[in-house]
Parts: sequence; C-alpha cells; structure tokens
Amino acid sequence: MSGLKEALKLRCGVVVPGRLALAPLTNTQSLPDGCLGEDERRWLLRRARGGFPWISTCAAYISDQGKAWEGQLGVAEDAHLPGLTRLAGDLRAAGAVAVVQLHHGGALASLAPTRLSTVDAPGQRGATPGDLAQVRADFVAAALRCEAAGFAGVEVHGANGYLLTQFLAPLDNPRTDAYGGDLAGRARLLREVLQDIRAAVSPGFAVGVRLSPVDLWSQRGLRLADSVQLGRWLAEDGVDWVHLSLMQATASAPEDPSGPPIATAFRAALPGDVALQVAGAVWTLADAQAARAAGADQVVLGRAAIIHPDWPEVAFDLAFSPSRPPWPLPALVAADVGTGLQRYLLARPGMVLGGALSRG
Ligand SMILES: Cc1cc2nc3c(=O)[nH]c(=O)nc-3n(C[C@H](O)[C@H](O)[C@H](O)COP(=O)(O)O)c2cc1C
Repeated sequence: MSGLKEALKLRCGVVVPGRLALAPLTNTQSLPDGCLGEDERRWLLRRARGGFPWISTCAAYISDQGKAWEGQLGVAEDAHLPGLTRLAGDLRAAGAVAVVQLHHGGALASLAPTRLSTVDAPGQRGATPGDLAQVRADFVAAALRCEAAGFAGVEVHGANGYLLTQFLAPLDNPRTDAYGGDLAGRARLLREVLQDIRAAVSPGFAVGVRLSPVDLWSQRGLRLADSVQLGRWLAEDGVDWVHLSLMQATASAPEDPSGPPIATAFRAALPGDVALQVAGAVWTLADAQAARAAGADQVVLGRAAIIHPDWPEVAFDLAFSPSRPPWPLPALVAADVGTGLQRYLLARPGMVLGGALSRG
C-alpha cells in the first residue's frame, strides 16, 4: 500500500504513526475572539478518531493584524491558550500528531486594523523594519503558545498568497531593501521567521513550512527552480517538513509541463531527513499511492477529508468510492461539519448541493 501505514520519524524525533495527513482547512468555527469553538473541536477530533495520524488546524492568526476571517482560530494571545490546550490534549489522546498552522494574512487580512503588505498600496501599508520585527516576534510567541498548549509542532503558512507568499512572489514584492529583490531577499522574512521559531522552541518540537512552489490561481512569478532552492535553504534553517500546496499532487510545474512532478523535484533536493508533505486532489487510494510514488513522504487530504472523516479507515476497502462535491448538507452534518464551515463552503461555488444551513 505504498507504505501509507508506515510510521515516519521526523528530524526532531516526533514519530508520526502513518503517512496520511489532514490538510489545514479553514472552517470558521472558532468564537469571535479567536478562542476555540466546540464545532471546531468536534470537527478536528472526528478526523483524528477517523484514523488521520496527522492533524493540522486551520490557518490560525498569530496577531490581530494578521486576522483574515470571522471565526478564525487564534494563537495570538494567552487568552487563546485554554482552548488550544484542550484541543491538543484531545487530539493527542485520539492518537494523532497535531500541529497548528501559523498564519498572517498580510494584504489579505481583511479584519486587520491596517493591512500589511510589501509596499504601500490603496488600503495597505508597506511593512516597515519595525513591522517586520513585530511579525517575527508574533510568529515566535504564537509558536511558543502552541508548544505550551501541548501540540507536537507548528507549520508556518508560507503558501496561498498570504503575507509570507507576498514577500516571496516576484510580482507582489517590488521592495528595494533587504526584504526584496533577488530570491535571497524575497525569502528573507520567511527564513527569519523559521530560524527564530526553531531557536525559541524545544529541539523536540516539530517546525514545518507550507509553500506554494508554483503559480496556481494567478500569475505571481513563483517558479519551481526558485522554490526548490528555497526548500534547500529552509532545510538548512532547521525545518522538519516542507509541505507543498498544489492543485494536483503529482503535477509538473506549469512552466515545464513535461518535466518531473513538482514533488519529485523537491524530494530529490531536500535532505533525506526532511519530510515532504504534498496536497492536491487526493480522493482515492490510487491517488495517495501516486503521490507517494512521486515523492511525498506524507499525503495530505483536504476536500476528501471534509466528507470522509474516516478516510484512512475506509479508503483501503476495494469498494470505496469517494463522494465528490457538491455535497448535500445532511451528508456534511453527518461528517461533523458545523454551521461555520457549512457557511464557508456555501460561499464557494460547487461545494454544497441546495441552499439553507442545516441549523443555527
Ligand atoms: C474549505 C477549505 C479551507 C482551506 N483552508 C486552508 C487553510 O486554512 N490553510 C491552507 O494552507 N490551505 C487551506 N486550504 C487548502 C487545502 O489545505 C488543500 O491544499 C487544498 O484543498 C487542496 O487539497 P484537496 O485537493 O485535497 O482539497 C483550504 C481548502 C479548502 C477546500
């Protein structure tokens, strides 16, 4: 079964009891102040009990200035600690390795008092050296909170167009100081954040990073060759895993469609003890095996895990056939999708059949 049930030992010593992972999935089920909501706890716990050996929280905001959604989970202040501690304990008791995805929305932080960006733009403020020092400190404080809460690790969200990707992407970063220009300059903020976190947390605490290695939805100038170099640097900075955010786990780079899969290029470039996580349209066991064959050490499921919270238990059955969107609301409710996530999915075309919320 392509070793999908094999344990994996991370660089820091954390042992993951299998190769399947729940993707970070924004579910807007936290309380207005960022404290853990009961629906969010139930949603994650159901997937841990459903056999996912690795559970990531949604993108969780590290500071009010990075907050992007109502109902987003917070790791921004000590008031968030009791809920985080309960969540970490529950997920651990269910047998999962649980990590928090640390997020700063940057120019997309729609709930921020002022939106931080690489340079001044309408409604956005170009980050000053003082802002960047604060961002670094906020990431570190959030990581320490997650360790205190009992999580196994944190993943820095460097993907999908948020603050750290805005710095990485050539077309979003026209800065002329040390945080812009060539790849080394554009990667500086992300690398400093990871170096700072690695230096602050315990050696046995896992630290990873999620990247968008190529352009997906819009042309931002992200290229595989640059991203592979970035991956090498991040490995030097001490990350335990690199997580690729892709539409298709076995895809090749758009700029080189007949080239090797993106995952294969990363696996070849990263040191052997840095794990590679890959997400993108994994629905069936064959998809997961193909992702492993392409180089993924851990295979990450997003949408399939929304409707199949026990995918790691049912997908090995030869008769398994995944349910694909749009999904009927009762099926989502049966999978412990609460009203916050129902609402979020209803706002995305093609995800939910029919109209009204089930309750609330
Ligand atoms: C409802 C929803 C919420 C998401 N939230 C996040 C998030 O908080 N952080 C993140 O890095 N990616 C997020 N993503 C992207 C997923 O983690 C994943 O990369 C993507 O869905 C592709 O995997 P899939 O084809 O298995 O769904 C989200 C995707 C969906 C559908």
